[in-house]
Amino acid sequence: MTSASTAAPARREPELAGQTVVLIGGSAGIGFETARRARSEGAEVILTGRNPDRLEQAALEVGAQGTAAFDASNPAAVQRFFQNLAGPIDHVLVTAGGPTYGPLLEMDAAQVSEALSGHIVVALEITRAAVDKMRPGGTLLFMGGTGGRRIARGTGIVPAATDALPPFVAALALEIAPVRANLIAAGFVDTPLSASLLGDQLDARRKELRETLPIGRVVGPADVAALAVHIMSNTALTGATYDIDGGQQFVS
Ligand SMILES: NC(=O)c1ccc[n+]([C@@H]2O[C@H](COP(=O)([O-])OP(=O)(O)OC[C@H]3O[C@@H](n4cnc5c(N)ncnc54)[C@H](OP(=O)(O)O)[C@@H]3O)[C@@H](O)[C@H]2O)c1
Repeated sequence: MTSASTAAPARREPELAGQTVVLIGGSAGIGFETARRARSEGAEVILTGRNPDRLEQAALEVGAQGTAAFDASNPAAVQRFFQNLAGPIDHVLVTAGGPTYGPLLEMDAAQVSEALSGHIVVALEITRAAVDKMRPGGTLLFMGGTGGRRIARGTGIVPAATDALPPFVAALALEIAPVRANLIAAGFVDTPLSASLLGDQLDARRKELRETLPIGRVVGPADVAALAVHIMSNTALTGATYDIDGGQQFVS
């Protein structure tokens, strides 16, 4: 018998011990699951969202250090939030905001501008407000998607809007170094947002994905949270886009 076979398994250090993670959109879905995962890796978390009741419930569930209710698309509110943070922070995940679906010809000029630039404007205002509070090596982390990679009838403005995000995040990473910036591009993720978009089609879509995705199951928010926490803890990653869609972009 070797000593290796009797040794207790090595205990690893929590990956985010001593760090603080801000979740802009942390009361549900991907943001909430990332808060939970970050807590399990030793981080303090601060959650934001618009609905104060949902926020307080989420904060209780994960043991958040703090919460703030505001609309992330309001630059003054974003600035106030970061100004009022007591200490330095390490990472900021932005999950506020969603895609704009619908036929191109039915969109007016304001809707087109918002769909094309809304995510980028919000990301930039959050970066501007947050970056001086962030420790070197921390990351800003934004959400994009793989759904727009393939043009199809019905994808509307989504492919154009999501294509702008990877070069935006790469350029941002150069400007804010040594703080990092990264992008997660998700396919279908089983969250309250997906449920609200699909309504009574949700179960049929889940079934279709289970039958067609190479991974044979539906991607959940905990999958994306695991990726988000890895990007936070791996300080070699910046300016990059990480796909997480179970292979969806290749099959549907
Ligand atoms: N789910 C997917 O299949 C999927 C796929 C690709 C990309 N994404 C992107 O990933 C992000 C997160 O999606 P999710 O599915 O986790 O969404 P979700 O389940 O709806 O959760 C969104 C969270 O953000 C908050 N939020 C939304 N808009 C906000 C705003 N303007 N200001 C402040 N907080 C806001 C929500 O709380 P309140 O409503 O109370 O504010 C909630 O806490 C979105 O940007 C989405 O477009 C999702």
